[in-house]
Amino acid sequence: MATYLVTGGAGFIGSHLAKRLIADGHRVRIIDNLSTGRRERVPEAAEFIQADFTKLHEIKPHFAGVDGVFHVGALPRIPFSIEHPIEAAQANIFGTLNVLVAARDAGVKRVVYSASSSAYGAQPELPLRPDMPVNPLNPYALHKQVGEVFCRHFSFFYGLETVSLRYFNVYGSGMADEGAYVTVISVFKNQKLAGQPLTIHGDGGQTRDLTHVSDVVDANVRAMTSPNVGKGEVLNVGSGERHSINKIAGFFGGPVTRQDARKGEARDSLADISLTKELLGWEPRIRFDEGLRSLLKEWGIEPM
Ligand SMILES: NC(=O)c1ccc[n+]([C@@H]2O[C@H](COP(=O)([O-])OP(=O)(O)OC[C@H]3O[C@@H](n4cnc5c(N)ncnc54)[C@H](O)[C@@H]3O)[C@@H](O)[C@H]2O)c1
Repeated sequence: MATYLVTGGAGFIGSHLAKRLIADGHRVRIIDNLSTGRRERVPEAAEFIQADFTKLHEIKPHFAGVDGVFHVGALPRIPFSIEHPIEAAQANIFGTLNVLVAARDAGVKRVVYSASSSAYGAQPELPLRPDMPVNPLNPYALHKQVGEVFCRHFSFFYGLETVSLRYFNVYGSGMADEGAYVTVISVFKNQKLAGQPLTIHGDGGQTRDLTHVSDVVDANVRAMTSPNVGKGEVLNVGSGERHSINKIAGFFGGPVTRQDARKGEARDSLADISLTKELLGWEPRIRFDEGLRSLLKEWGIEPM
């Protein structure tokens, strides 16, 4: 049994991860300031600390006795990072730095960092490989990428084991359903349930690699325990398949309206997951069609 600290454990991905760790028999401590997270998402068996990781003194004492940290917490909204550049950078850049410092000082063995495929931005070719030069197109993407570099530095300079997992559009039960960065799936859900037409930006031919949250959780668990990583490696966590926005709309059915393409977002995304498979022995288990259909049913929407 290990003691794990999950930042952002009241959020979408963090709460799924906390549940899995508890089910695996571990002790779980959650740090979350409930800015976008919700208290009721925190599993009962977890120790909950309402604290803000932009304040080192608030979080530092809670790293004592922790074996591993999953740094999942962030302000993960592109529009928010454009409208509030300082606040977003404080949470995403300095928050990550604080978590790394607190982990280092407490003698934590490993930090698994929730990075983002948005670091790739627009690339001349697909699939997206971790050895490609990054091209962050918006402040959020830049913040998340800076976090990866910090992780690598902390491994190099201080011997803190770190791994960065670049998630590709995560979906599943409890995913965020407000704000403009929310995956297109949530936007369509809200529109469908409100009886409105689905809004498609641009021609709808843009594609996304979408990853089920249970696969993201599994990648985290493996990244924490694998002997093959710990030096700041950057690994893709995606499905290795891509789906157009038009295709996703097709699952929901009904009329669509079209709006201008969004600025600062890559047209296509597709993960090369070969390195993740090789180092973590991980591969996605939930096929998109299967995952989306069961989510739609959960929302009371009959999939087409
Ligand atoms: N959801 C996706 O598709 C996706 C894709 C790529 C990367 N990610 C990354 O995965 C992580 C989790 O994303 P999510 O979708 O679960 O988001 P989320 O908003 O549901 O969860 C983030 C959590 O962090 C907490 N938080 C924010 N600022 C904090 C602070 N200063 N102190 C303490 N807690 C704070 C929030 O309250 C929230 O509970 C983020 O790091 C995000 O960048 C998510």
